[in-house]
Amino acid sequence: MNFISMNLVTLLYLVASVCFIQALKGLSSPSSARAGNAFGMAGMAIATVTTVALILKLKTEMATGAMGYGLVIAGLVVGGGIGAFAAKKVEMTKMPELVAAMHSLIGLAAVCIAVAVVSEPWVFQITQRGVALPFGNRLELFIGTFVGAVTFSGSVIAFGKLSGKYKFRLFQGAPVSFPGQHMFNLVIAIAIVVLGLMFCFSESAEPAWTPFVIMAILSFVLGVLIIIPIGGADMPVVVSMLNSYSGWAAAGIGFSLNNSMLIIAGSLVGSSGAILSYIMCKAMNRSFFNVILGGFGGEAAETGGAAQEQRPVKSGSADDAAFIMSNAESVIIVPGYGLAVARAQHALKELVEKLTHQGVSVKYAIHPVAGRMPGHMNVLLAEAEVPYDQVFEMEDINGEFGQTDVVLVLGANDVVNPAAKDPKSPIAGMPILEAYKAKSIIVNKRSMASGYAGLDNDLFYQPNTMMVFGDAKKVLESMVKAVE
Ligand code: TAP
Repeated sequence: MNFISMNLVTLLYLVASVCFIQALKGLSSPSSARAGNAFGMAGMAIATVTTVALILKLKTEMATGAMGYGLVIAGLVVGGGIGAFAAKKVEMTKMPELVAAMHSLIGLAAVCIAVAVVSEPWVFQITQRGVALPFGNRLELFIGTFVGAVTFSGSVIAFGKLSGKYKFRLFQGAPVSFPGQHMFNLVIAIAIVVLGLMFCFSESAEPAWTPFVIMAILSFVLGVLIIIPIGGADMPVVVSMLNSYSGWAAAGIGFSLNNSMLIIAGSLVGSSGAILSYIMCKAMNRSFFNVILGGFGGEAAETGGAAQEQRPVKSGSADDAAFIMSNAESVIIVPGYGLAVARAQHALKELVEKLTHQGVSVKYAIHPVAGRMPGHMNVLLAEAEVPYDQVFEMEDINGEFGQTDVVLVLGANDVVNPAAKDPKSPIAGMPILEAYKAKSIIVNKRSMASGYAGLDNDLFYQPNTMMVFGDAKKVLESMVKAVE
């Protein structure tokens, strides 16, 4: 089975890496996202086929029966099958959970590979049988195992919190904390470093299993401990951070295996995940540490927010709202998390088509953290085949609200909350869509309950605001009928 040379492997890995970079580039804009996905799939197909060929080549060269063809094929069929099934079945609102589940597997894979390399380094052509692993390799394996284990257990907890389906206390959305938690975590982290160094500095050909195994167990425990105090609503930032960790774990293991594909793909995932976490924190005007150490999005979001003030609000029906919009010249739609929950994107598109047909100019305004994951609203609108040229990012549309006749806010709350302009507010400084500047504002939500940040919203009490209470899908369907 010597049909592939090492030079060809390197070349194919290079091609796959270029595909991955093109995939990231394509995914940066809705219009090129489809092409980006195609590049990603092509890159992954090339990388997988090349790696399988490499495994089969090494197997024949080393005449070891450790890995049979059956095992390789079973891995491909079972892994590919689960991936295809999950991707086909998952709902848009459940996407962060799926991503968390996938990251847990990457972390676990990193730990498994590290254990295999530590026990039989000669199979991976790192050393000769009976020769100790060099210090550099041991250090890479320690770091890869540590990051992989934290990623695995942290992602499992993030998955449980995001799904909200399980009774187990640690999987509940509400933060779990105890006195001295940060100090306890610090002690465990120090113990991990000490044990890891003991493993790295042991020079015997027989691996130092005791410090290695205890270090791995403590890393699993640390992964759980650092995620449980974070509220369910902050999980998207955590998932993106774990995404970054999983990339670094893969890159670390790639150095040990001398596999350039793992190093490049791992670094791309690691750095893009870190950049994404940074963008999300910036768009919420929160520091990364504020999220990690628990800020808003904990109790308040779980309970639907604190008690609301009893202030008068003006409410109207879907028919009233349809009448106002039909008579307007310009309308801006602000979609939010509630629109995604109600799965009302198709009804919305129908409404916009009817309004446009009547000569109303309609635009969509997207806040960078509207919804619960990056690009949530863009994907939702793309699913309903909303033309990209009607969709505007916050910085491009904010200047237009003042001259707009009607703003229709659908299941959005924090992203239009003028409290962000108040230096004393918990969301002070968070950039918002300036819907409050429009001539009239229509807000659709089911009640006066607060959003993710657990804050009341002055926009709802403005004299030029009309609340239309009800599920976004039902309300939009009624609006469509009324516009007709
Ligand atoms: P939110 O502030 O969470 O408000 C969503 C609103 O939708 C709620 O007030 C809710 O009010 C309403 N709603 C829920 N179900 C509905 C339904 N079926 N029909 C109509 N309305 C419904 O959402 P947002 O304005 O999109 O802001 C997103 C928040 O998530 C921000 O605070 C952001 O920082 C945070 N966050 C976002 C991300 C990313 S990357 N997107 C990551 C982490 C955190 P009712 O219960 O009264 O209906």
